[in-house]
Amino acid sequence: MASMHPPPDLRPARLNALGEFAASIAHEVKQPLAAVKLNAEACLALLAQDPPRVDEARAALRVLTEASVAAGDMVRSLHAMARRAEPEHTPFLIDDAVREALRLMRAELRRHDIALSEHYGLEGIQLCGDRVQLMQALMNLVRNAIEARPRRLTLRTALAGGAARISVADDGAGVPAALAERIYEPLFSTKPDGTGMGLAICRGIAEAHGGRLWHSREAGDTAFHLSFKEHTLWTPSRS
Ligand SMILES: Nc1ncnc2c1ncn2[C@@H]1O[C@H](COP(=O)(O)OP(=O)(O)O)[C@@H](O)[C@H]1O
Ligand SMILES: [Mg+2]
Repeated sequence: MASMHPPPDLRPARLNALGEFAASIAHEVKQPLAAVKLNAEACLALLAQDPPRVDEARAALRVLTEASVAAGDMVRSLHAMARRAEPEHTPFLIDDAVREALRLMRAELRRHDIALSEHYGLEGIQLCGDRVQLMQALMNLVRNAIEARPRRLTLRTALAGGAARISVADDGAGVPAALAERIYEPLFSTKPDGTGMGLAICRGIAEAHGGRLWHSREAGDTAFHLSFKEHTLWTPSRS
């Protein structure tokens, strides 16, 4: 007779999905939490000066607040992805979301002495999608770039062939050609403490928006690109 209470689903695929979910939460929340810590430390140091640098401390606290809100949003958004809920599709300005994601990473870039140059070319262009997920994808790419130990990082947004493209380029270690596709596999990492979830999550986010994630070698830099096709974009001023 069939049991009324089936045993919990412990097939390997299910365990993997749970393991990946746990790994991805750990991975995602690490970034905004690092921003909370760095900005809290900066704030204490600024207030300890004589006279205390109150305005800068206030600015650090503002970033800290944004970072803690982002941590909460990311847990919620990962949970929604795990439940396979449809991502929230609301139009938002791409460049604004990119700027905010970078703001959360700025203290960490500074701490590693990495020069950042930003070039924005999507003014007024909106993506119909999930803003939190896009920020999450970008923060992953920036974190990977930082971990490749570069001296400089270049962020560029542009329209290319009708698609909106966001590129993060670094002059760090580079991706060995032999690993070009493997790096996108869940749990694949070349780092001793890596979770290997960053790029898998980024690609998932890109695809959930009908977009793509890939990397290339450009003038000695390693560049990761997110691109979103025209039909997911929205330019209110032109419609
Ligand atoms: N900007 C980059 N430069 C060089 N290698 C990279 C870069 N981004 C990702 N990689 C490679 O891709 C692998 C997978 O990245 P990811 O999925 O984010 O996992 P993790 O960062 O935990 O290792 C990394 O371990 C690294 O080998
Ligand atoms: Mg990573």
